[in-house]
Amino acid sequence: EQHFATNEILKGKKVLVTAGPTREKLDPVRFFSNHSTGKMGYALAEAARDFGADVVLISGPTSLPSPAGVQTIRVESAQDMYENVMNHFHDSDIVIKTAAVADYRPKYVADNKIKKQQEDYTVVLERTVDILQTLGKQKTHQFLVGFAAETNDVERYAKDKLARKNADMIVANNVVQEGAGFGTDTNIVTLFKRDGTEKQLPLLPKSEVAKEILREVHREIEGRL
Ligand code: CTP
Ligand code: CA
Repeated sequence: EQHFATNEILKGKKVLVTAGPTREKLDPVRFFSNHSTGKMGYALAEAARDFGADVVLISGPTSLPSPAGVQTIRVESAQDMYENVMNHFHDSDIVIKTAAVADYRPKYVADNKIKKQQEDYTVVLERTVDILQTLGKQKTHQFLVGFAAETNDVERYAKDKLARKNADMIVANNVVQEGAGFGTDTNIVTLFKRDGTEKQLPLLPKSEVAKEILREVHREIEGRL
């Protein structure tokens, strides 16, 4: 048997990626959402596939095509995403939560289109489930990667999320920085790890950011063996 050099560093690993925004319905024609386009999450799913992993991508509504060779599940709300993530969590080795999950949803969803009436209109929102925090409580062998899109105090918030959600890594980016954030093809991120160290990556295409994140995850998993 001949052996070839391979960069299939994630061969045999099951990788679960979430991507895109969620939509929280207000009535049959309206919803609350955010500016996530899914590019970073889809890039991660494709990079994990290229590194030889079995990849499940759970995606909120995006305009991106489903990546070839990746099991893609389309969802709408935070609750839908939560349920689908839980179905795939236990046999995953690496979970990467790139999705921009809504923190709140309308408490009351109207059956019919809401008609305009008064000048002021108040919508009551309620909290959604924090998917990553739930995974952090339930994890056994899974390596958990969260994302943090911040506009200020990136380091403080990233470290807080690492601890609060019991994640193994937080990928943080300042979304108001040029070349980073929503809808761009590039990103500038810092990886915050459990041991308190951090790794800053330069401005890179999201495809390259994805590979660097997965290489770092691979090194961390190897270090555990
Ligand atoms: N996340 C999640 N479920 C939620 C909210 C967030 O799984 N309901 C995940 C995101 O996918 C991301 C990480 O948690 O990987 C951090 O998301 P972020 O919105 O930055 O953190 P929050 O805890 O919601 O804090 P805040 O929005 O107040 O900064
Ligand atoms: Ca949030």
